Amino acid sequence: MQDAVRQARDEALARIGRAEMLDELEQARSACLGRSGALKALMQKLGTLPPEERRAAGQLLNEAKAAIEEALAARREAIGAGQVRATRATLDISVPGKCRPIGHEHPLRQAEAELREVFARLGFEAVEGPEVELAYYNFEALNIPAEHPSHDSFDTFYVEGDVLLRSHTSPVQIRVMEQRKPPIRVVVPGRVFRPDTPDATHSPVFHQIEGLVVGEDVTFADLKAVLAMAMRELFGPDTQTRFRPSFFPFTEPSAEVDVYCEIGGQRRWLELLGAGMVHPKVFEAVGYDPERYTGFAFGMGIDRVAMLKYGITDIRLLLENDVRFLDQF
Ligand code: DAH
Repeated sequence: MQDAVRQARDEALARIGRAEMLDELEQARSACLGRSGALKALMQKLGTLPPEERRAAGQLLNEAKAAIEEALAARREAIGAGQVRATRATLDISVPGKCRPIGHEHPLRQAEAELREVFARLGFEAVEGPEVELAYYNFEALNIPAEHPSHDSFDTFYVEGDVLLRSHTSPVQIRVMEQRKPPIRVVVPGRVFRPDTPDATHSPVFHQIEGLVVGEDVTFADLKAVLAMAMRELFGPDTQTRFRPSFFPFTEPSAEVDVYCEIGGQRRWLELLGAGMVHPKVFEAVGYDPERYTGFAFGMGIDRVAMLKYGITDIRLLLENDVRFLDQF
C-alpha cells in the first residue's frame, strides 16, 4: 500500500512538472486527485486495510496529497506568470491567418439605409410601427371604407378578427399622429404583407417606406420639391419626376409619381410612388384640426428601389437568401 502511494505521488509530481499549459495541469490534477484519480482510489482502499496498517498508510496519503496540491499551486502560478517556456511549438506565428468571409448588408437593407439617409438629410426622422396591426389603423383611420376591396380577406392576411398583417406602412401615419403634435416630419420603413402570388414583380412580403409631413403651411409644392430632391439623390442629378393625378382614400388630391431613369441602358418613365395631401378625414381620425393643419404623405416600395438601383429583374431574388445572388452587391 505504502509503495503504491509513493508511486502515485511521484507520478503525479512528475506529470505536474511536465505541464506547460493550464489545461495540461488540470489533466494532471484530475488524474490523481479527481473523482476517478489514482490517489482517490487509494483512499477508498484505505478503509479495507487492517487498523495497524491503516494509520501509517493514511498519514502517507495525506502527505502525498498535500505535496501534490502544493506542486499544483506552484506550477499554476509559474505557468500563469509566463515562467514556463513551452518546449513544443504551440504557436507558429508564420502560419497565414484564417481568412473568414465577412458578410455585408442585404441589398434591401442597403436600399433602406440609403432611403433613410436621403430623407434624414431632408429633415425626416425614421420611425417604425407594428407589422401585426389592427384593421382600424390599416383601413378605417386612413379613410379606407369597409367595402373597399383591400379590406377583403383575399387582399389582406387576417390573423384573427380585426387583427391583420399590415398591407402597407400607412397605418404608422396614424400611430405617429396619435402620439405627437405637429410639426411632424417622419419616414417609416418597414415590411408589409399581401396575399399575392409570387412572380417577378409580386411577393407576399415586401417593403415600403412611408413619408408624412404635417404642419401649418404645408403645401403640394413642398411635396413636389421633397420628392423631386429625394429622387435626384437616389437615382442621380439628372433624374426627372412626373406627377399624375391618382386616387388614394387617405390623400386628397392624390398623385402617382413617376421617375424618369435609366434601366438596362434605356431611359424611361417608371411608376415609383403614391403620394398626396393628407385627407381631412385622416386628421379628424387623430383629433387634428383640418382647418389648422395640412400635410403630405407618400409611400414607395423599397424592393422596387433596390431593383432599380441594382438592376435586379426579379423581386423573389431579394427574399430567397441565395448567397450566390447576394454576394454580388
Ligand atoms: N399605402 C399606399 C399603398 O400601399 C401607398 C401610398 C400612397 C402611401 C399614397 C401614401 C400616399 O402615404 O400618400 O399602395
